[in-house]
Amino acid sequence: MSKTILITGASTGIGAATARALAKDNTLFLHYNRSQAEASTVAEAVAGQGGTAHLVQADLTTEAGCRRVVDAVQEKTDTLDALINNAGSLIERHTVETLNWDLMTKIFSLNTFSAMLMTRLCVPLLQKGTEPSIVNITSIAARHGAPTATLYGAAKGALDSFTRGSARELAPDIRVNAVAPGVILTPFHERFSTPERLEQMAANTPLGFHGLSEHIAHAVVFLLENPFTTGETLDVNGGLFMR
Ligand SMILES: NC(=O)c1ccc[n+]([C@@H]2O[C@H](COP(=O)([O-])OP(=O)(O)OC[C@H]3O[C@@H](n4cnc5c(N)ncnc54)[C@H](OP(=O)(O)O)[C@@H]3O)[C@@H](O)[C@H]2O)c1
Repeated sequence: MSKTILITGASTGIGAATARALAKDNTLFLHYNRSQAEASTVAEAVAGQGGTAHLVQADLTTEAGCRRVVDAVQEKTDTLDALINNAGSLIERHTVETLNWDLMTKIFSLNTFSAMLMTRLCVPLLQKGTEPSIVNITSIAARHGAPTATLYGAAKGALDSFTRGSARELAPDIRVNAVAPGVILTPFHERFSTPERLEQMAANTPLGFHGLSEHIAHAVVFLLENPFTTGETLDVNGGLFMR
């Protein structure tokens, strides 16, 4: 059966791979911020697989941006079957000694508050959906400790906790899960990691290589499809972090 799905941050990396994985026969609302050309390429790929794609632009560091995305969805439908809160960024490397209020606000607005507000705004649409569920993209940084990305790790940790709280509150109607990626080769690391840093992290990873966006998309699809899973954070990290 055809599903209607909203994916934030669908222009590149994990969001784009998830859109491709979910394209067939579904209607996808693909959010992007700056990468319009990349988002259009993803939309074309979705159409090529028999899906329907609607693009929506917004900066999710603001409440207005979040509302704009949901308003755009509501112009076309009053039903959602899934919400994937994927948009996120480290924004800027820092240390505990150099962090400041402005950076804290930016990192938490994008990685935590936007996912929380998108959840709240989408619940009425999800309640009308079929076997509806939410997947939040958190990070290994939430549990592993990530020097120079401590705020980002804390913001993802808060989203991890929100996943469990909202899963309990919204059950049995809406399932809520998360995927916590390890090191995944996307534009994220082109921006924030040197080749030397990546090499070192691969050497520390038991499976010996970095993940691809498709590995995370696969985990998202599993969580969307498994009706007996809620409140779960699925680690997909090549063994770099084990519970
Ligand atoms: N790659 C990794 O190793 C890794 C590990 C753990 C967790 N993650 C998480 O996975 C998610 C996807 O990241 P990725 O690795 O696929 O990186 P990516 O390719 O850089 O994708 C990030 C996405 O977030 C969007 N975004 C960034 N800033 C935004 C803003 N201010 N407002 C709205 N959207 C914004 C980007 O949109 P535009 O490009 O259109 O601006 C893009 O679509 C993020 O939540 C990230 O924290 C990644």
